[in-house]
Amino acid sequence: MSAPAPPSGRLAVYPGSFDPLTNGHVDIILRGAHLFDRILVAVLVNADKAPLFSAAERVEIVREVFREYPNVDVDTFDGLLVEYARRKRASVIVRGLRAVSDFEYEFQMALMNRHLEPSLETVFMMPAEQYTYLSSRLIKEVFSLGGQVRGLVPPLVEARLRATSASPRPVSSEGGSV
Ligand code: PNS
Repeated sequence: MSAPAPPSGRLAVYPGSFDPLTNGHVDIILRGAHLFDRILVAVLVNADKAPLFSAAERVEIVREVFREYPNVDVDTFDGLLVEYARRKRASVIVRGLRAVSDFEYEFQMALMNRHLEPSLETVFMMPAEQYTYLSSRLIKEVFSLGGQVRGLVPPLVEARLRATSASPRPVSSEGGSV
């Protein structure tokens, strides 16, 4: 069933919005970096949404947080994930599973992606228990209401959140704040 890994090793793509990157995401990326030869964090450029951080800012954050991990890379993508993975010659999609509530959506996506590209395998990983309740949406909500997010996001993300609240930015149609 399995074809040999490409010469450069087994590449896993970890797609998501990462708006912002949380310590749950960081945990999954580290697990992926141990499991696969390379892990490519693929930041979705979503024209329909108005993200807090632009795609370029989200890429910059991931790049900085994983500066010392040579097998962690970051990129943006739009369009179909399977097409992007094919272009990158990835063999695996990594997704984090926090709770049973994630399962149905993730199950549907994994099977749809398999339908579209049978050679691409989705691998689910559980983050450490202390991050199972974390989501980017909750981080943004808690922070915007004055709650403490220290320990839940990398220090760089916390600093960026503070910077955005110090000078609220108008939102562009694509990549978030301008
Ligand atoms: O963690 P998120 O933000 O919920 O990530 C969702 C993501 C980016 C994995 C999903 O929306 C996606 O793959 N979008 C790309 C478009 C696509 O391929 N859609 C079909 C998925 S079955």
